[in-house]
Amino acid sequence: MERKWWHGKVAYQIYPKSFKDSNGDGIGDIPGIIEKLDYLQELGIGVLWISPVYLSPCADQGYDIADYYQIDPMFGTMADMDRLLEEAKKRDIAVLMDLVVNHCSDEHVWFQKALADPDGEYGQYFYIEEGKNGNPPTNWRSYFGGSVWEPIPGTDKYYLHLFHKKQPDLNWRNPKLREEIYKMVNWWLDKGLAGFRLDAIINIRKPLVFEDYPADREDGLCDMGQVLEHASGIGEYLGELRDQTFRPHDALTIGEVFNVTDEELKEFIGENGYFSSMFDFRQTLEGKSLLGWYDCRIPTPEDYKWCCFKSQKNSEGVGYLANIIENHDEPRGVSHYLLKEAQHEDGKKLLAAMYFMLKGLPFIYQGQELGMENGAFQSVDELEDVSSLDEYRRCLEVGCDEAQALKVVCHYSRDNARTPYQWSDEEQAGFTTGTPWLKLNPNYRRINAKEQMARRDSVYAWYRALIRLRNNPEYAETIVYGETVPVLTAEKDIMAYLRSGENQRLLVIGNFDGESRKVNLSGIRNEDERTTVPGAVKLLLNSQKAVTEEYDQKAQGREKECPVDQGILTLAPYQALILEV
Ligand code: GLC
Ligand code: CA
Repeated sequence: MERKWWHGKVAYQIYPKSFKDSNGDGIGDIPGIIEKLDYLQELGIGVLWISPVYLSPCADQGYDIADYYQIDPMFGTMADMDRLLEEAKKRDIAVLMDLVVNHCSDEHVWFQKALADPDGEYGQYFYIEEGKNGNPPTNWRSYFGGSVWEPIPGTDKYYLHLFHKKQPDLNWRNPKLREEIYKMVNWWLDKGLAGFRLDAIINIRKPLVFEDYPADREDGLCDMGQVLEHASGIGEYLGELRDQTFRPHDALTIGEVFNVTDEELKEFIGENGYFSSMFDFRQTLEGKSLLGWYDCRIPTPEDYKWCCFKSQKNSEGVGYLANIIENHDEPRGVSHYLLKEAQHEDGKKLLAAMYFMLKGLPFIYQGQELGMENGAFQSVDELEDVSSLDEYRRCLEVGCDEAQALKVVCHYSRDNARTPYQWSDEEQAGFTTGTPWLKLNPNYRRINAKEQMARRDSVYAWYRALIRLRNNPEYAETIVYGETVPVLTAEKDIMAYLRSGENQRLLVIGNFDGESRKVNLSGIRNEDERTTVPGAVKLLLNSQKAVTEEYDQKAQGREKECPVDQGILTLAPYQALILEV
């Protein structure tokens, strides 16, 4: 695999509305991000992805863009953005913005012109179709519920929106539209942006013929996943996008791609792929149901482990994945992948180690490094997210009572990860001096950055230690490029893998069991059948010890502390260890 500057970095996602408010209006903003760059640098972050800050009426929290060349006043000004790029650069932090080009906002001037004259030039920027016998053109269901077709008043025509009706889909079949997009992407890259996260990008290709597919619910509609299976040839657009924009700038691009088969991975992130990397969503999809959130199943630690192993195997020698446990669309990782009884600091550190040490580019979503948890919503009125409101309706429709519906939505809601960042235990968690736009999690008195930064055995300290280890030249090569070899796989609720480099092997092992466990390390063999020599085991990190300062002084001479006796390793409940073996 060709080596890239970003392979060894650690990435961080900021959801600007909820990160840091600088002016007391209750909404996080760009000056707020600038204020916290030192915090990110200190943590060890090298790549920053910022969710949309473009001009937007915010029907879908900025993922509905009214002008790609303007910053929304709610977030600041273009001068603020320029300053952010400059200040990040000083700290050796590369900035990625969100590229949302499957759709724009219905308030974008293109769409306004299209509405005024659906048959004119700008009508071609969108998908505008005539209805069929008084019905919408097809029976496709929007990701946010209801038909993807919205009638255009005063006509017999409809426009297509796969997401919210305020997010009309852009017509990528139109070369003029594509040119506009490339021009805009290049404009941002010329400004000094390092690259983009590509939003919902797989949706830009639609089936050639707009027709009905078999309904999968009583509403007579069918899921977009099914529709997209009939849309082949996305490579044509993605290849062109890459060649016209990303490649000449050597941009870093991370795709939000859900519907790619294992076989297609190479096309997307292999050598000469469309993107630099893409998120591994395998564990995110585990347990999901086409019927809606009410029918989803929460993954077990075993499910989690096998998802990771499958993706690691599949991407080995092909490309470099981006690894996550959460983002702004998912429940908090610690509230989703950990069993209830494991949702404490030990459990959180365990999960952190397991995903962070996988091969790939680790992304930390804001607050994850504190072990921030799902929101504490008491009523559906406290939720802002469009899809949560739709899923709530859906729960009631299939017969749940209100309490059940609330419980389901409170687990899966996208607002769980969108609650304001918990900086301190002061009023409003130090996030704002005003009233936060979304309800704070009241647990900020207990879980906050200020407290955790001062404590050497906190979740924050653990993340920092993991990042230090990744950045340590003594181990970086193995952590960044070593192969992932699952071991001890038959041990239920133990997740263990080797990172196998040229002259070095690291063992990452964690215990998701509430009981302590003994495992036999001499059962671990390398490809060449060399057995592990238990005597030569060296402890690098232990999640149940205060590690930060010690680790900064270099991981060495700690063989004696290693809990291995005659090849038998004893793991305390929820303990994670990283060993050199
Ligand atoms: C992506 C974003 C999500 C947004 C959707 C539509 O999935 O992550 O937040 O709602 O695209 O833009
Ligand atoms: Ca603000």
